[in-house]
Amino acid sequence: LFVVVLAGGISHERDVSLRSGRRVADALARAGHRVELRDPDAGLLPFLSEARPDVVFPALHGSSGEDGTLLELLSALGVPTVGSTGPAARRAWSKPVASSIVAGAGVTVPASIVLSHESFRELGAASVLRVIREALPGALVVKPASGGSAQGVTIVEDPSDLPRAMVDAFTYADAAVVEQRIVGTEVSVGIVETDGTARALTAVEIVPSAGVYSFQARYNAGETTFFAPCRLEADAAARATEAAIAAHGALGLRDLSRVDLIVDEAGTPWFLEANVLPGLTETSLMPLAIEASGTEATTVYDALVRSAAR
Ligand code: DAL
Ligand code: MG
Repeated sequence: LFVVVLAGGISHERDVSLRSGRRVADALARAGHRVELRDPDAGLLPFLSEARPDVVFPALHGSSGEDGTLLELLSALGVPTVGSTGPAARRAWSKPVASSIVAGAGVTVPASIVLSHESFRELGAASVLRVIREALPGALVVKPASGGSAQGVTIVEDPSDLPRAMVDAFTYADAAVVEQRIVGTEVSVGIVETDGTARALTAVEIVPSAGVYSFQARYNAGETTFFAPCRLEADAAARATEAAIAAHGALGLRDLSRVDLIVDEAGTPWFLEANVLPGLTETSLMPLAIEASGTEATTVYDALVRSAAR
């Protein structure tokens, strides 16, 4: 097949996407496809209308791919595309929307409040802090309402750190989610869907050396220890996997996704987020989960492009 892999874009995760895209392009070339790697710049739509690829594989992270806009354009153009539809991507990309949809499907989610940059500016840090402290006592996680790779995410133990954490989050999105910090085992469940059935890959446990799975800990080899399969008891691991499948389904995601969760001491999985286009770099979780599940990235990407082309 003639496959165009999209990588780069103008999001905060451009470099990560370039790394994912190269891996995907290499794998698909090894599987025997004719592959072209392309940055989704202004010339993209004329190029696609002209070149008419059999399939587009958007290896795009962040706003340029995961927010659904480009996916809707591709759909309007009638190009078969690997991955989720625009509307599903939009739902998952917004962390507050995703969290309430997934809660509606019966999965436990952390208590949270969402603050717009406007209200932060208008009400002032002091009154915003009062609102947060009343709603959410205890340790918190502050994150941009949309975004990836832990950019703009801060764990806040001391309330006096809240304003700075919020300002950080607002550099990545115009709203910030402040949520209850869940303590437990961090696991990530990759999901691959072929012939209409979503299957969970082996759940991967994440243990960052510095304690926090930051941008640094994600993309520098050796900064995080992974356990695949995770060390949870079978029952807790099964519950995490079920929660991930439920989240993928409730959000209407397609083909591939990755759901991040924390499993608490009681074995309850807490949904953190669903990744529309999970990282596929050499240090990313999804390729690791694919291998731990006894298959190969080449096989999975090949199956996905073949299925999209049908
Ligand atoms: N947002 C990054 C790429 C991930 O989900 O792996
Ligand atoms: Mg993410």
